[in-house]
Amino acid sequence: MAYNKSLPLVDLHRHLDGNIRASTIWQLAEKNHIELPANSLEELMPHVQIQKSEPDLLTFLAKLDWGVKVLATLDDVKRVAYENVEDAYNAGLHYTELRFSPYYMAMTHKLPVADVVAAVVDGINLGIKDFPVQVKLLGILSRTFGVEHCTEELNGILTHKDEITGIDLAGDELNFPGELFIDLFKTARDANMRITVHAGEAAGPESVWQAINLLGAERIGHGVNSYKDQALLDHMVKYNIGLESCLTSNYQTGTVKDLSLHPIKQFLANGNLVCLNTDDPAVENTEIKQEFNLAQQVLGFDHDQFTTLQENAVKMSFTSDTEKQALLQLTRHS
Ligand code: ADE
Ligand code: ZN
Repeated sequence: MAYNKSLPLVDLHRHLDGNIRASTIWQLAEKNHIELPANSLEELMPHVQIQKSEPDLLTFLAKLDWGVKVLATLDDVKRVAYENVEDAYNAGLHYTELRFSPYYMAMTHKLPVADVVAAVVDGINLGIKDFPVQVKLLGILSRTFGVEHCTEELNGILTHKDEITGIDLAGDELNFPGELFIDLFKTARDANMRITVHAGEAAGPESVWQAINLLGAERIGHGVNSYKDQALLDHMVKYNIGLESCLTSNYQTGTVKDLSLHPIKQFLANGNLVCLNTDDPAVENTEIKQEFNLAQQVLGFDHDQFTTLQENAVKMSFTSDTEKQALLQLTRHS
């Protein structure tokens, strides 16, 4: 097995709304009388799961759409949140940060955004009663829908701010640069939200600089293109800004054409804080252990590199030092 079993399995970059089971999409569509572009679950698969790779990020993201289109009630939202905890537990995770875009989940059936946040929180709380895995929640502002909808999202998230640990910016990075969201991230930071931002995935290193300097990012989602700017990599080392790498996702979005050349090698060699994550497990048909296997088979990573990646994940987690120590104790003797 590729990972270090005496350290916890952690997934910090995991979209709850990118991990809606195909079987659940099928069942919710039937219950809610929503027409799907398929006559069977098997036929549905290519509409909700990447088959090989996509030409770009937006084509990849379109595969998440059916998952949210079938969410017609708050109970449906609660169900997919609950199932996300079950999936995280079944994947062998000890700790995960689940991120979700409340507006994206709410928009098709015009559910109240703040109520969607509450339904996710309820589903997670039910889930962690049944499945022993530690979960924290991050609220996403979906840049694809513009500043106004992101404002609505942030307001909905902050209505339940005691249950939400941090804020992320996701979606169409090329057409909606970080500078548009400066005020919203200031509001989020003033509300004591931790900050991670998708950057350097569809756009270049300048987008990562914006995430750090304009939005206050403490971690960067993907950050693939950071490798093009050594000063940026060194700045991230100096200020402990972590990179959340997602190998399968980067291949499937067309960001990295040849996984054996993924810059995670360079990030590690440069001393950057970097860890392995899934991104959208159901859409990508992956799980965290598969990402470690890939790192072994395609990148040639060894036990020491897995140790570093797993220790980094704990360091990068949005938890207190006490919680980090407790997390490390969990697996110490197993
Ligand atoms: N939302 C879900 N997955 C994403 C990704 N890889 N990039 C940007 N937004 C996302
Ligand atoms: Zn992501």
